[in-house]
Amino acid sequence: MSFQPLKDKVAVVTGASSGMGRAIALRLAEKGAKIICCDLRAEANPSGYENDISTTTVDLITASGGIAVFEKVDISAVSEVEGTFSRTISQFHRLDILINCAGYWAPFRDFANEDDELWAKMSAINTLGTARAMRLAIRQFLKQEFDPIWGSRGRIVNISSCAAVVAFPGEVAYSATKASVNHMTRAGALDHAKDSININCVAPGVVATGMARQNIEDADILALMQKSTPWPRIGRAGDIAGVTVFLCLPDSQWMTGQVLAVDGGLTLGVAP
Ligand SMILES: NC(=O)c1ccc[n+]([C@@H]2O[C@H](COP(=O)([O-])OP(=O)(O)OC[C@H]3O[C@@H](n4cnc5c(N)ncnc54)[C@H](O)[C@@H]3O)[C@@H](O)[C@H]2O)c1
Repeated sequence: MSFQPLKDKVAVVTGASSGMGRAIALRLAEKGAKIICCDLRAEANPSGYENDISTTTVDLITASGGIAVFEKVDISAVSEVEGTFSRTISQFHRLDILINCAGYWAPFRDFANEDDELWAKMSAINTLGTARAMRLAIRQFLKQEFDPIWGSRGRIVNISSCAAVVAFPGEVAYSATKASVNHMTRAGALDHAKDSININCVAPGVVATGMARQNIEDADILALMQKSTPWPRIGRAGDIAGVTVFLCLPDSQWMTGQVLAVDGGLTLGVAP
């Protein structure tokens, strides 16, 4: 068995059934963490690109000898999120890592065609859902001892988007709520650095997941995305998982409040 630097750590991963959240949950489990897989449903998004799409994340982890449980939760529902955290603490007696990966995106439309309903849903999931889970995790971290080998009392990694930094046509509400994730990362990290709690963020570019399939299958949108991405390919869920897991390892213990673009260079400027 490979070295497991996160042995005995307990991780809540939201959006764990599909795409990036699934890839992150699997890699954290490989590193030895026990995973609470949180999602609307246990089954993967059927539009996803996973080779093993018909097997749930929990089943994949347990088949590899890891420990994982599924929690059905809508991160925009206060009581459901609180229930998930309290069941996690009752069952595993601690919490060490929170990955906020669940997010909501809606097909492109001009700003003038957005409405309050769209903004309310985007805000409830992307902004309030992320902030709520962060607060609940931090409150639990504060009850636990600093781990001198890990160099930390707890880790949070939020998943935002390149759209939080550069403007894309047709996604004002999404961009604004993802920008809020970037900034709650920085501001939250500032408040809790003194507590040895690391709060960082990964901002993906275009990644082949179920969420992005309708864009990838639209030849015009795909061409725009490829043109905007200097690297010769668009992203894979594993690209995001590798960096996210690094932010949970002892090697990153002195990093906090950072937003790491993992985007094939999309946010660098105008691609030649
Ligand atoms: N795919 C991209 O190109 C891209 C780019 C930038 C950022 N992102 C962000 O990455 C994150 C992961 O998305 P993905 O591309 O892996 O998509 P995905 O559809 O493969 O996975 C998202 C998962 O989140 C779950 N989810 C959605 N709303 C939820 C809620 N309210 N409560 C609990 N779970 C919920 C879904 O059921 C799904 O399993 C999202 O936050 C998304 O905004 C995606």
